[in-house]
Amino acid sequence: MMKQILIINGPNLNLLGKREPAIYGSRSFVDYLKTIEPLFPEVQLRYFQSNHEGELLDKIHELGFDVDGIVINAGAFTHTSIALADALSAVSAPAVEVHISNVHARESFRHHSYLSAKCKGVIVGLGLTGYELAIRYLMMSDER
Ligand code: DQA
Repeated sequence: MMKQILIINGPNLNLLGKREPAIYGSRSFVDYLKTIEPLFPEVQLRYFQSNHEGELLDKIHELGFDVDGIVINAGAFTHTSIALADALSAVSAPAVEVHISNVHARESFRHHSYLSAKCKGVIVGLGLTGYELAIRYLMMSDER
């Protein structure tokens, strides 16, 4: 059966390409996604973005027992949301946390993540390439 990976982007990430391009680059996420899809013909990539914490929780609940992995960039909710951390613990799919910017080189409030301990690993500061690397890892890993 074809593997399925859920990519979740949280608040303000719908503005990628327009938002602070010096930090986040000038490419929209949908455009990036189109370029990586052909690299993973054996994976069904499912993409969800929301600015609303509850909608992110609902999507993790809805698909987190069925997909083979979750790539999550929860944006600023990373630094605030115990609920998202609990949701990642609740579901069976392994998750990888991604941040486009190097959060450790930025304000100290970005240094702590509630999600990291619930994820297999974390990729920060490698730009959009971080998503691709996370997908590659989840495809390799047999754990669910
Ligand atoms: C981010 C880093 C967060 O601190 C910030 O709130 C974001 C984007 C990143 O991808 O670098 O919205 O998650």
